[in-house]
Amino acid sequence: MNGPAAGLELRDVVAGYGGQPILHSISFSVQPGERLVVVGPNGSGKSTLMKTVVGLLRPMSGAVRLGGADVTALGAPARAALGLAYIPQETNIFRNMTVLENLHVGYEFVAPSKGPTFSERLEAVLGLFPEIRVKLRSTAGHLSGGQRQMVAMAAALMPKPTVLALDEPSAGLSPRNAGLLFEVIGRVAASGVTMLIVEQNTQLGLGAADQGIVLVNGHVRLAAPAMTVRTDPEIRRLYLGGV
Ligand SMILES: Nc1ncnc2c1ncn2[C@@H]1O[C@H](COP(=O)(O)OP(=O)(O)OP(=O)(O)O)[C@@H](O)[C@H]1O
Ligand SMILES: [Mg+2]
Repeated sequence: MNGPAAGLELRDVVAGYGGQPILHSISFSVQPGERLVVVGPNGSGKSTLMKTVVGLLRPMSGAVRLGGADVTALGAPARAALGLAYIPQETNIFRNMTVLENLHVGYEFVAPSKGPTFSERLEAVLGLFPEIRVKLRSTAGHLSGGQRQMVAMAAALMPKPTVLALDEPSAGLSPRNAGLLFEVIGRVAASGVTMLIVEQNTQLGLGAADQGIVLVNGHVRLAAPAMTVRTDPEIRRLYLGGV
């Protein structure tokens, strides 16, 4: 294989807790700039997969590769320094700080010794999130759920990551705000960031993705172009609650 290195790749990953596997031989690759959405029933292992990707959970076997480099042995901070940003489902902003302070923390988190300055990154990120430019001095905790999720994404993008991992970005949002958030996710993807997204709203998530994976009981039940997953009648009936 002589193609470009995948943005993110898992090979035969087995992972779980206390020696008990939850994920069974998971393999996939996301090409640079692509969006892969993972869907599946509650408890199927989606967040466990996310934790394994970002380095919070060490796999029992298998490999995680980032931009072609094997990062399996690295913890979360080292993976972040290599360009992997992670937004957990909850507690993903500092609510008592202003939006601008949150963006500072996001920038300093990876502490780039060289590369773009804070001001340069701020302008680039606000270009993707004009909605929060007018909120920079606001206390982050006073924003709406959708705005807070945008602040979390903006802060994660401040160090200029190459891969962004999002766990349930639309959780708790109204359908309208979830739709707006996925518009922003589209803008971020168009800027060249590779994305791995776990999403409960399967139609919205798969509608915004290149590839889709259906995870059931820790197994990849289907991996296909997102549109194929979205319209597969059996998968919709069994796992996605489709009509
Ligand atoms: N820290 C933990 N220790 C032990 N077991 C865990 C831990 N976290 C999750 N599990 C178990 O792993 C399985 C998968 O959980 P996980 O959170 O990955 O599912 P999920 O697909 O993200 O579910 P949801 O859609 O509800 O967020 C569940 O059986 C859960 O009980
Ligand atoms: Mg989860």
